[in-house]
Amino acid sequence: MPEVEYLDYGVVEEREWQLEAVSTFEKAAAADLDGDEYGRMAVSETETILDAAQREGLGWSMKCLKGGCGRCSALVVDGEVEMDDEQKFFTRADVGARDICLPCVASPETDLKLVYGVSELDSLEQHVK
Ligand code: FES
Repeated sequence: MPEVEYLDYGVVEEREWQLEAVSTFEKAAAADLDGDEYGRMAVSETETILDAAQREGLGWSMKCLKGGCGRCSALVVDGEVEMDDEQKFFTRADVGARDICLPCVASPETDLKLVYGVSELDSLEQHVK
C-alpha cells in the first residue's frame, strides 16, 4: 500500500521553505508540526488520496470531489500519481507541466511526497472555483 507523506502549503509559506524540494520534507519531519500539518498516511487501492486524508480526519480543502473545482490541488514533490482522465480542472498540458494533482480524483502509484493546499498559489488561485 503506497504511503503519502503530506505537508501543508501554509507551513511551507510561513517558514519560507522551498516548495518543490524533497529536503523541505526533511525539515518538516524535524520540526514539531501538528499531525494535520505534516504526517504520513497509507492509501489503499480503493481510495483516492483525498479519501485517505478524510479517513485520517485531515481537514484538506475540497468542494466538488470530482476533479472540477481545483480546491483540493496538491503539488507532487516526489513520486507518481494516477489521475482520473475525466477531471475537468487541468488541461493535459497543465498536468504535464506542473507536478500538480487533484487528490479527490488521484491515487498514488508509488510512495509520495505531497504538499496539499496549493490552490492558494497565485498561478492557481484565479482558476479555482
Ligand atoms: S474537490 Fe474539487 S477538484 Fe478536488
